[in-house]
Amino acid sequence: MVRFACLMGCFCALLTSALAQTAANAIDAEGHQWWQHAVFYEIYPRSFADSNHDGVGDLNGITSKLDYLKDLGVDAIWITPCFPSPQVDFGYDVSDYENIDPMYGTLADFDALVSEGRKRGIRIILDFVVNHSSDQHKWFLDSKSSRTAEHRDWYIWRDGKGPEEPPNNWISEFGGSAWKFDATTSQYYYHYFYAEQPDLNWRNPAVKDAMFDVERWWYKRGVSGFRLDAVDTLFEDPNLHDNPALPGKNAYGDPLQEKIYNTKLPEVHEVLRGLRQVADGSGAVLIGETWTKDVSELRKYYGDHSDELQMPMDLMFTKLKFSAPVFREHIAGVDGAGGWPVYVISNHDIVRSCDRYGDGQHDDEIAKVMAALYLTLRGTPIMYYGEEIGMKTTPPTRKEDVKDPIGRTGWPKEKGRDGERTPMQWDKSANAGFSTATPWLPVPPTYKTHNVADESKDPDSILEFYKRVLKLRHTSKALLDGGYQALNENDPDVLSYLRTYNDDVVLVALNMSGSPKKVNFQLKHNGFSSAKSLVSTGKSSAKGDEVSLGPYGVFIGQLIRAENH
Ligand code: GLC
Repeated sequence: MVRFACLMGCFCALLTSALAQTAANAIDAEGHQWWQHAVFYEIYPRSFADSNHDGVGDLNGITSKLDYLKDLGVDAIWITPCFPSPQVDFGYDVSDYENIDPMYGTLADFDALVSEGRKRGIRIILDFVVNHSSDQHKWFLDSKSSRTAEHRDWYIWRDGKGPEEPPNNWISEFGGSAWKFDATTSQYYYHYFYAEQPDLNWRNPAVKDAMFDVERWWYKRGVSGFRLDAVDTLFEDPNLHDNPALPGKNAYGDPLQEKIYNTKLPEVHEVLRGLRQVADGSGAVLIGETWTKDVSELRKYYGDHSDELQMPMDLMFTKLKFSAPVFREHIAGVDGAGGWPVYVISNHDIVRSCDRYGDGQHDDEIAKVMAALYLTLRGTPIMYYGEEIGMKTTPPTRKEDVKDPIGRTGWPKEKGRDGERTPMQWDKSANAGFSTATPWLPVPPTYKTHNVADESKDPDSILEFYKRVLKLRHTSKALLDGGYQALNENDPDVLSYLRTYNDDVVLVALNMSGSPKKVNFQLKHNGFSSAKSLVSTGKSSAKGDEVSLGPYGVFIGQLIRAENH
């Protein structure tokens, strides 16, 4: 049964909360903020474009590709950490929060990127690693130097339980105990991730002040917001209770545990409110790396008074099976959660979307279905570089080639994250046009078939499809601001929905199966005469009440009102 409901209630609520924001925000006449209409694009700077021919990407490389991004339909780029760093975790170990790593360029290069971006309407988002610094940061070097050092309490130091026994049973996300003994002061320090990434002590007001200052510093430099790294892990139980054990072991051989005493503590929300206050002063947006177990956990990150993250990422979306009912149910939950949804299908920590959803035979078609899906939902999408050309995860085949340290400790169960961080495939010249030097990670063999240059010339390519959908998204009121309404909710294969903004109604129908499908939408019965195709793939088309979809076909169409309605 098809249901066409009035969606104005939800739209009005959104409008009211948006109007309450400060005037410093770029808000349109209807109260939408810039980030609600923007398409975000994540760039892993080591792998995007190498301008100085050393095999590693850099900021000038990114600047040289701004025209490409503009043409694609990108409004904001999130650059994963490009600050000075020993690169143990490829930048997520920051040794100076207010500078650029020479490997990526200089602050002047960064300023040029901001100003060239501005000319094209592309904003810059940086990655704020709030949970930990590098062990080479001057704060930590001082902290470890003596028990009475000025920065001692900026990190988490404790005595062991006994000789050679860490303070408790907490396990690092990257393997082994989360405590490392330091002989200089005969105490252990806590690190949720690598030992080279000691956790900052957010219970110390001096840490808070220093980090808020970092945030302000970058806003003054022209940054439009931050993606906040690992926010779940900012606080730990000060009494260091052991985490309860779970059956089984992780890829590193550690016993599994329920991380109730060192993740998702309620104090996290107070810090988010503080960071948000600073952001609001600059019209900036905060995006969260929010791995949540369900929608109610996700909802908390918006804040009880919409005063925390404007854009907590729905990372649950990356774990769903490619199935119409599964996506339908999930979208309904997130869309109804009361905040502005933020959809993501890939990032630098997980297997690429093409591999997760692809069946090995229809990968390009499936990539288009996924693009059509998350780029037409109510909310803001965050793309990952290379997704728009159908790049595939290409993990190392030998342990000795692994660059990501977790791939070496976890081999062969955990091969690390190199596979999803390979160089951008610009063309089919040597090194895929990424660099004239040998790239830091090998270019996957797929660069010959999936690259920007060739796909730009092929109207049926994934890239051209992304461009068409993004163009539509930027110009369609229904897609930008309309409500979401699921249709045909019992269909096991075709996911379909309406996006409705006043009289502007767009129908999206996605065949998530390998067989052709015909779907009746009872358009006439609901006051519409027909559906006019806006973007579709293969042989998908509409006739009368019916939409025909090819295998993994996409139909996005404008609904035309019947004369007498
Ligand atoms: C986040 C990043 C990941 C990094 C970790 C530690 O999860 O996305 O790449 O390794 O934080 O900073």
